[in-house]
Amino acid sequence: MILPHSVIRWGSSLLVGIPFVDHDHHEAVEMINRMAGADGAERLSLMRAFLGHCEEHFAREEEMMTRTGFFALDPHRQEHQRVLAEAQRVLTRLEMGSDETEYFREVLPQWFLEHRATMDYVTADFALEHGWHGEDQDPVKAAQ
Ligand SMILES: [Fe+2]
Ligand SMILES: [Fe+2]
Repeated sequence: MILPHSVIRWGSSLLVGIPFVDHDHHEAVEMINRMAGADGAERLSLMRAFLGHCEEHFAREEEMMTRTGFFALDPHRQEHQRVLAEAQRVLTRLEMGSDETEYFREVLPQWFLEHRATMDYVTADFALEHGWHGEDQDPVKAAQ
């Protein structure tokens, strides 16, 4: 479903080929679109859930990078930490009553699209070429 304020349209062009990454990214896009169209208490509660989603997703990507010996683990992990710190600051401003609309309609969607197309894409490509062979190693499935 495309919401009136959708800022990212999910589609096959956003896939990276690792099931748990694509699953998490699809959820993230739905959350980003919902936050872009929400305001007030609804946006605040969605943002709290989104921060938790990001922490779990980043941990799964970092585990895959570690297990496949990814050459750019450190810069990728640092970028995750940077964006988490930024999101935490946005959450604090939301709690103080700011609407942060530019962040939700522009900064965050642009960051997601760029991060997926660069660091996540290269990470997934490397993992597939270095022994990451699918669902039996999938951190989402393994946790179930
Ligand atoms: Fe990701
Ligand atoms: Fe990432």
